[in-house]
Amino acid sequence: MRIIKLTQFIELLATKNRLAYCITSAYYRFLVKREAVLANINEKDRVLCIGGGICPYTAILLHRYTRAHVTVVDSNKRCVEEARKFISRKGYKNINVVLGKGEDLSYDGYTVIHLAMQITPKELVLREVLSRAQEGTRVLIRKPKKGVERLYCRAAEEEKHFARCIKHSLFSNVDYTSVCIVDREAVGSTI
Ligand SMILES: C[S@@+](CC[C@H](N)C(=O)[O-])C[C@H]1O[C@@H](n2cnc3c(N)ncnc32)[C@H](O)[C@@H]1O
Repeated sequence: MRIIKLTQFIELLATKNRLAYCITSAYYRFLVKREAVLANINEKDRVLCIGGGICPYTAILLHRYTRAHVTVVDSNKRCVEEARKFISRKGYKNINVVLGKGEDLSYDGYTVIHLAMQITPKELVLREVLSRAQEGTRVLIRKPKKGVERLYCRAAEEEKHFARCIKHSLFSNVDYTSVCIVDREAVGSTI
């Protein structure tokens, strides 16, 4: 998909050039700050970011805003290699990057799971997360704006479980972020 290639190009540039990182990370700052508040994330949480990309802005900002330990997973080997180098250069000891598919992982030990908007197949990843993550885990998903919806994979059925959300700015591709708490008794219970 063209959007993935474009994102990867921008993210690679951001890992090589400080100014490019400052400019491009501005897109995520407001978004991620609001997500951290929405899910009430703090330094005791263990966060899993599924789909970190070459430049894992979301993971870095979540860690910076909350001090939580963050694990980033990406299914693309090159993304993982570049992200690892970048995280190491930046000196973040509490962020680690692993190679894997978001749908195949063990979610044990994570109290927050964040799904990138570009992950595929989103429906499968979300189904696995909601059925296997520990009770009480807060799961965050981003919903694209109507005009760009067709560029992203959908997970309409699973998204019904998410209710509480925050709306993002006019200039973001993300319309809103929703959160739900994993609850096996009442699948779909929300905070
Ligand atoms: C371009 S990134 C966007 C993340 C962005 N850098 C951030 O900080 O929020 C999306 C990444 O998701 C990865 N991805 C897509 N589907 C995935 C899946 N099922 N499991 C793990 N990673 C996935 C892609 O390889 C890509 O690198």
